[in-house]
Amino acid sequence: MKVGIIGAGNIGSNIASLLISQDLASEILLIDINEKLALGKMLDLSTLSVILDKNIKINSTLDYSKLKDFDIVVITAGITRKEGQSREELAKINASIVGETSKKIAEFSPNAIIIIVTNPLDLMVYACYKNSCFNKNKIIGMAGELDSARAKLNLAKLKNISPISAKINVFGMHNDEMIIQTSQDLTKDEFQTIKDETINAGANITKLLGTSAYYAPAAAVVKMVKAIKNGGNIIASVLDDNEISFGKEIKLSKKGIEKIVENEVYKSVDTSNFIKLKKNL
Ligand code: APR
Repeated sequence: MKVGIIGAGNIGSNIASLLISQDLASEILLIDINEKLALGKMLDLSTLSVILDKNIKINSTLDYSKLKDFDIVVITAGITRKEGQSREELAKINASIVGETSKKIAEFSPNAIIIIVTNPLDLMVYACYKNSCFNKNKIIGMAGELDSARAKLNLAKLKNISPISAKINVFGMHNDEMIIQTSQDLTKDEFQTIKDETINAGANITKLLGTSAYYAPAAAVVKMVKAIKNGGNIIASVLDDNEISFGKEIKLSKKGIEKIVENEVYKSVDTSNFIKLKKNL
């Protein structure tokens, strides 16, 4: 599979590294407005592929025409939220980056499946949809797998169980309004603790690193690529008939979203902020 990655920063380059090590791509193309950064990452990743004995074509460019007929394109391009910057401001700036990028993808890889990573995630799925004019079943946003993994860690810590066997998932918006669903017996306080810790997980990492998390977000994208390649269920932000996007369980294949797995929790997702912000993009 040919995988294009727009934005060769922390998340983009880690996605490439995981795709190479897990034999998930035959070709990888890195595109970044910072050409030197993309070139440097490409050279480093090419060396990694030789060390791991992987025969993968890896290139970097700013020329979108090289993104011809790719199967999957991941958009991580954007800016991270600065101190004092409102969500509205961030949404406007990143929507214009995601919008421009989406138009280019539509021009050169009209049959691709697009995976969005740029924040604010759910709104960026909408921005991609509006600008690419792709079918809704070809655009998916990465958040649910990441938030669910964070919730699993928090539940495991609280109940002293393995995070791998923790039965908890996160649906809905990729922000404070996320919806947590678990079959584990919890008191109200325990549930609230897990919810608070999951909501704050990203910000905690940012405080420690001075930049947002990247290993786990990259791994979540690669899980989505695997589900596209081999078929499988994952949680992703997907658009509904009203052009509102939030995290739902979906069945993926090489054709895109095959099915949305219905769940009563979708009805309790608060979409008011999304609707308000979407009007200003
Ligand atoms: N076209 C191509 N690349 C761009 C553009 C653009 N118009 N604008 C920015 N970029 C690139 C930057 O040059 C940078 O290399 O996007 C990359 C983003 O990488 P990082 O700053 O390292 O951010 P990262 O941690 O990878 O997060 C990517 O995911 O969490 C979200 O919204 C958050 O913007 C962030 C994105």
